[in-house]
This record gives sequence, structure tokens and C-alpha cells, in this order.
Amino acid sequence: MGGLDLSGRKALVTGGAQGLGEGMAKALAAAGAKVVVADLQKDAGAAVADALDREYGAGNGFVAHDVTDEGSWENAVVAATDVLGGLDILVNNAGIEITSLLTEVTADQIRRMLDVNILGTTLGIKYGLRTMRPDGLAGQGGAIINISSVAATIAFPGIAVYSATKSAVDRLTRVAAMESGKLGYGVRVNCIYPGLVPTAMGAGLANDVAELGLFGSPEEAVGAVIGLTPAGRLGEVTDMADAVVFLASNEARFITGIGLPVDGGMGM
Ligand code: NAI
Repeated sequence: MGGLDLSGRKALVTGGAQGLGEGMAKALAAAGAKVVVADLQKDAGAAVADALDREYGAGNGFVAHDVTDEGSWENAVVAATDVLGGLDILVNNAGIEITSLLTEVTADQIRRMLDVNILGTTLGIKYGLRTMRPDGLAGQGGAIINISSVAATIAFPGIAVYSATKSAVDRLTRVAAMESGKLGYGVRVNCIYPGLVPTAMGAGLANDVAELGLFGSPEEAVGAVIGLTPAGRLGEVTDMADAVVFLASNEARFITGIGLPVDGGMGM
């Protein structure tokens, strides 16, 4: 991405082992940042960090991390700060989606989505602010970017609970930006609403809504999404990664507390 310069910046990306998080880690590194990838998946996460070292120079790293576990967050911010020599960008990207009709969804499925998407993001904001605020481990201010979804802005069948968790991410973002400002933490907090991207999660969602009988086939579900999208296509990983780089950059210095749709217009 031309122009935006993150040289000297230090980033932690959760869920960075694959999909959007992997693309965000690469885009941040391509813009000059050093990146620690955090994920449940150890081999895939470490491979992403190795690829960043090879492509963009040494200094990146991986930490095994479960965003739903508070002790794991304490460990992740210490590990990231050690590897990077500080921390000033946190991308709370890890998330899960379990497709289900409201008449069928189980308490266990609901809890799993609440755990990763709401609890995980909330703990991320907590440890991001505590690490980056003036009296924190890194103490240098910075930017937190949370990953909500177009699902927070539209009604799509089969993803009610997921959509609710992503609406929560939006509200968490606004209040976090307000507390950070009021308390002088020097941390901007924003979120993006990605449109559908055919990652493992995105492709799985199209299959699942078809299996539930909501659409005739996965292709029909994808066609319905594209039909609602003025840009006339699905999202790509780089669409989301470039938006994250922008919100992390100095060019977004007066932007905090927003939810940025990156959805080709689907959620307007
Ligand atoms: P994905 O399923 O391909 O990757 C998610 C990553 O998060 C995986 O590497 C997984 O191991 C990791 N993860 C899951 N639970 C975790 C936990 N408890 N602790 C640490 N890591 C964990 O998903 P994708 O598509 O890359 O999505 C990334 C984010 O973007 C998610 O928050 C998702 O809700 C959001 N999103 C995705 C869209 C899409 O169409 N793909 C659209 C809108 C939002």
C-alpha cells in the first residue's frame, strides 16, 4: 500500500495465523511495522511470523495465545513488548462464527461466540489500553483496531448471535475510545466492519447458510451478498488489511471511536 509509513511501529495481531489476520500482519509489516502474531494455532502462526521475517526483515514474532483467557493476555502483551521493544498497535482480529437458526442455536454455541468475540475483544482492549497508556508496560500511546463485521449493520439470516457479538464490538470500540480520551491514555480505538471475504470463515458461512436451506447453494448465498453490494464483488483480504494499516497510521491521527465499513457499500 503506497504512502502510509509504519516504520518503527510495533504491532500485535490476534488471530494472525490465517485469513484476515494473516493479511493484516503482512500489510502492517509491508508498511514498515514489526509484528507479533498471536493465535491458538502454533504451527501456522509461527509460519506467518517466519514469513514476515523473510519478506520484511527480522524482528517479528509469534506468541501462542487464547484471547478468551486473561492469563494468556498478560503473557501475550509481555511477550510482544519483549520481542518488539514496545507496543503501539493492537489488532483485535480473532473471532469465530457458528451459523445457526435462532430456533436451533444451542447455549454452548452462543457461549463460544460470546467468549471469543466479546470477552476476547474486551480483554484485548483492556490489555491494549493498560500496555500502551502512559503508565503501562509500553507507555507510548498508539492505536487499537477491533474487527467488527458488516453483520453488525445488516440483518443476514443464520448469523443472529454472531451479528449481535459484532454489534457489541462496535459499542466496545466507542466506549474504549471515550475512556482512552477522557483518561489521557493517548490510544485511538476504532473498528472496521468487513464485508464477506472468502476466508475459511467466510466460505464456511456461505456453505452453512445453504445447508440450513436459507439459500439454494453456497453460490446463491454469495450471489445474494454481491447483489446487495454496490461494488459488485466480495471483499478481499487486502481490502481489510489496507483499512487496518490506515487506521493504525499517523494519517488517521484525528480518527477515534469510529466504525469504518469496508464492505463495498453493502451495509449502507
Ligand atoms: P478465520 O476463521 O479464517 O481465522 C480466524 C483466526 O482466529 C484463526 O487463525 C483462529 O485460529 C484464530 N482464533 C480463533 N479463536 C481464537 C482464540 N480464542 N484465541 C486466539 N486466536 C483465535 O477468520 P477470518 O475470516 O480471517 O476472520 C477474522 C476476523 O474478521 C474475525 O473476527 C471475523 O469475525 C471477522 N470478519 C470476517 C469476515 C469474513 O467474511 N471472513 C467478515 C466480517 C468480519
